[in-house]
Amino acid sequence: MKFLYHGIGLLFLARLSFAITPDGRIHANRPPRPSIPKLPLPPTDTPVASRNGTQLPPYNMVYYFDQLIDHNNPSAGTFQQRYWHTYEFYESGGPIILSTPGEVAADAYYTYLTNSTINGQIAQQLSGSTIVLEHRFFGESNPHSDLSVTSLRVHTIQQAIDDFEYFANNVQLPMPNGNAVAPGKAPWILIGGSYAGALTAYTMVNKPGLFEAGYASSAVVQAMVDYWGYFEPIMQHMPANCSADVQAVIAQVDSVLNSGNTNSINSLKEMFGVSNLSHLDDFAAVLRNNLFDWQSLQPTSGPGGAFYQFCDALEVKNGVSAGASGWGLTHALQAWGSYWTNTYIPSICGGLDAEDCLGTYDSTNPSWTNTAIPNAERSWEWLVCNQFGFFYDGPPAGQPAIVSRLVQPAYDERHCAYMFPGAFNSSTPTPNATGTIAAYGGWNISVDRLMFANGQRDPWLEATVGAAGTLAAKTTGLTPHALSDGFHCSDLLTRSNVDPSIKNVQANATMFMVQWIASWVPSA
Ligand SMILES: *[C@@H]1O[C@H](CO)[C@@H](O)[C@H](O)[C@H]1NC(C)=O
Ligand SMILES: *[C@@H]1O[C@H](CO)[C@@H](O)[C@H](O)[C@H]1NC(C)=O
Ligand SMILES: *[C@@H]1O[C@H](CO)[C@@H](O)[C@H](O)[C@H]1NC(C)=O
Ligand SMILES: *[C@@H]1O[C@H](CO)[C@@H](O)[C@H](O)[C@H]1NC(C)=O
Ligand SMILES: *[C@@H]1O[C@H](CO)[C@@H](O)[C@H](O)[C@H]1NC(C)=O
Ligand SMILES: *[C@@H]1O[C@H](CO)[C@@H](O)[C@H](O)[C@H]1NC(C)=O
Ligand SMILES: *[C@@H]1O[C@H](CO)[C@@H](O)[C@H](O)[C@H]1NC(C)=O
Ligand SMILES: *[C@@H]1O[C@H](CO)[C@@H](O)[C@H](O)[C@H]1NC(C)=O
Repeated sequence: MKFLYHGIGLLFLARLSFAITPDGRIHANRPPRPSIPKLPLPPTDTPVASRNGTQLPPYNMVYYFDQLIDHNNPSAGTFQQRYWHTYEFYESGGPIILSTPGEVAADAYYTYLTNSTINGQIAQQLSGSTIVLEHRFFGESNPHSDLSVTSLRVHTIQQAIDDFEYFANNVQLPMPNGNAVAPGKAPWILIGGSYAGALTAYTMVNKPGLFEAGYASSAVVQAMVDYWGYFEPIMQHMPANCSADVQAVIAQVDSVLNSGNTNSINSLKEMFGVSNLSHLDDFAAVLRNNLFDWQSLQPTSGPGGAFYQFCDALEVKNGVSAGASGWGLTHALQAWGSYWTNTYIPSICGGLDAEDCLGTYDSTNPSWTNTAIPNAERSWEWLVCNQFGFFYDGPPAGQPAIVSRLVQPAYDERHCAYMFPGAFNSSTPTPNATGTIAAYGGWNISVDRLMFANGQRDPWLEATVGAAGTLAAKTTGLTPHALSDGFHCSDLLTRSNVDPSIKNVQANATMFMVQWIASWVPSA
């Protein structure tokens, strides 16, 4: 691990998912959500035991907390917020380690209770207990019975921060003396990755002293509307031949799509098997799909994943791989087009018409209008459209591009207006990213006893405190920033320690937590 004086920091996202709407239509032209890596669930037939051998409830036991619907109006009542908990490593005086998996249904993420993750590693080292708390508006933790604009009014970063505070101060943990470990009586540690990493940092800014220590992995603290920087670490770290050829194809795509020449445009679309896709920016945007596959990579990923299948399709010709500069435009264009027509489009669209599968201009499509719970994509988009932005766009002119410059913020802002009618006064509403930074800080967040960890190969690096050109990183003992050569949130996973730089980050994290918690004193 390196400590940064300046450098880069990133976040990780879940795999691209394909939403199937109630009318059976597939929508395969949607950006991915950021989220922490999913791990296999622990076997349910292995008993969980405390340090003295007493059998404990299984990891998959669901607990419910009566959470305030609206922290600005407690009289609005409560909803049931799910959580998971274990005290297998706990000993009296140990820390309470809280985390949320963020913008996902948490029942697939309770492995974050265990020492397969940094959460459990720290618990094991410090004799702590671990909690996984489902974020409001995800999974079964819903303040309201639908995801209408009216219901979503209480879906804000601040409400999620206030959830942490109200939970920590009021939960009666299902363990011996579980009613006597609130902050002040026991040290609490907050851990999060990706969006939940930003939430960890924002909470420590917003609620000083509530959490004694924090760990924020790939924390996307710098809200921004135009997040073209997402593709920069991908461009730098993908195989050189594939990077060169994707750049060549994208330059050609932009040249053709901007040419106004209908014949050339139609030939290009036909080459990619999407003749029926009417809007040129939909075509430009969906070409990002192959790059989005990068964000599911981890140090333990094998060579056969979707991202590498794509690069192999471009770079392996008659069994021979291209050199570092690629095969050049002619072959790359034909190879990408052929891969799409014969393999990729059938795999994401089945036999659907390209417009139905990939078009985004039908504002009545149920994938925009359906307000039923749960719908993690919709709940996340509410935060995106209001407070974060993070639109995956082409870069400014004059630099290499692996994404078309036809994809600009207005493309996604239009979707915000479709999804949340009545919420905005514009057909292309601008997310209030500057307000988020003003409220909680961005690249220059620095809070004592909050450790940031980032990965060089994380597409979210540029939204973290490790972003290139920021001077925010500090290396004092109370505000460490670590940079490994990992991917998105790699350092949250124990198994990532196959990479020595990540092993170092994790060892440092535990070392800092031991130091910081040792100096904790109960409040009078
Ligand atoms: C913390 O990281 C540094 C830099 O990589 C490394 O030299 C040191 O051994 C690490 N500390 C621990 C306790 O592992
Ligand atoms: C063993 O651990 C459990 C759970 O922490 C605790 O309830 C129990 O009192 C302990 N028993 C002894 C004999 O220490
Ligand atoms: C992780 O925890 C389990 C108990 O849940 C324990 O058996 C195992 O030894 C621990 N792993 C390490 C590396 O300490
Ligand atoms: C899709 O394109 C084909 C030609 O490639 C055409 O025959 C067909 O009518 C189009 N379908 C729609 C719905 O536009
Ligand atoms: C070229 O492409 C092949 C196939 O995807 C890949 O295995 C190889 O690492 C690439 N080589 C360079 C130098 O980029
Ligand atoms: C739309 O809302 C924004 C933010 O509230 C405001 O700044 C702007 O003036 C409004 N525009 C119109 C046309 O009402
Ligand atoms: C943006 O967010 C800030 C901070 O929450 C708030 O003060 C401001 O009113 C918001 N601006 C708009 C246009 O909504
Ligand atoms: C960064 O920190 C400075 C001083 O601490 C503050 O004035 C500024 O608003 C911060 N910038 C951001 C983007 O948070």
